Amino acid sequence: MTVRSLAVVSAGLSQPSSTRLLADQLAAATRDELVRRGEEVELRPVELREHAHDIVNHLLTGFPSESLRQVLDQVTGADGLIAVTPIFNASYNGLFKSFFDLVDAEAVGGRPVLVGATGGTARHSLALEHAVRPMFTYLRAVTVPTAVFAAPEDWSGGAADGALRARIVRAGRELAEQVHRTAPSDGPTDPFALTTSFEQLLGGRDT
Ligand SMILES: Cc1cc2nc3c(=O)[nH]c(=O)nc-3n(C[C@H](O)[C@H](O)[C@H](O)COP(=O)(O)O)c2cc1C
Repeated sequence: MTVRSLAVVSAGLSQPSSTRLLADQLAAATRDELVRRGEEVELRPVELREHAHDIVNHLLTGFPSESLRQVLDQVTGADGLIAVTPIFNASYNGLFKSFFDLVDAEAVGGRPVLVGATGGTARHSLALEHAVRPMFTYLRAVTVPTAVFAAPEDWSGGAADGALRARIVRAGRELAEQVHRTAPSDGPTDPFALTTSFEQLLGGRDT
């Protein structure tokens, strides 16, 4: 049986983080649906606050630390991606954007993605549609139709309440369908891989 991998990226800054809580619940819903379809699932949680300094260093120097490189490989090599950000100033937060600025469009092109967000007010739920989803469209990823926003009133003692629970289950089902239908990922792309064979290189040379 092939193991299907899901990268679960959350960009919350608090501890505990409601963004991480939402990401975990989306991951569990997707895993349950994939298991129901006979798949084995590997979850790869990535809490970006743990890599914040490395992300900034990579942006400044152009090179990732070893641990950040492993995280980028885990995300770009996964069969599906769950990406959840807190809403700051009516958009994704800076940590979320900075991390995905380090992800090459080629690396996640065609990959199924479920987007989610937490915020202080439900009035900002459409930030998912005007900011988060377009960013993944630019990266040529395939976002599932249901994006999940959680406002403080959607939680009841750490559990997703009625309507939020229903959205989580629906979004998880949509991502599981996409992952189930898509061929397993070839793993992370190698930025130094040769795109031309040695024969082609030698054949094209003037000697
Ligand atoms: C600097 C800052 C800006 C924020 N801006 C917004 C906003 O524009 N809209 C909103 O709904 N919530 C806003 N919030 C609230 C956070 O989105 C909310 O508290 C979020 O759930 C925190 O996630 P966490 O628990 O994972 O840290 C803001 C919070 C901070 C710290």
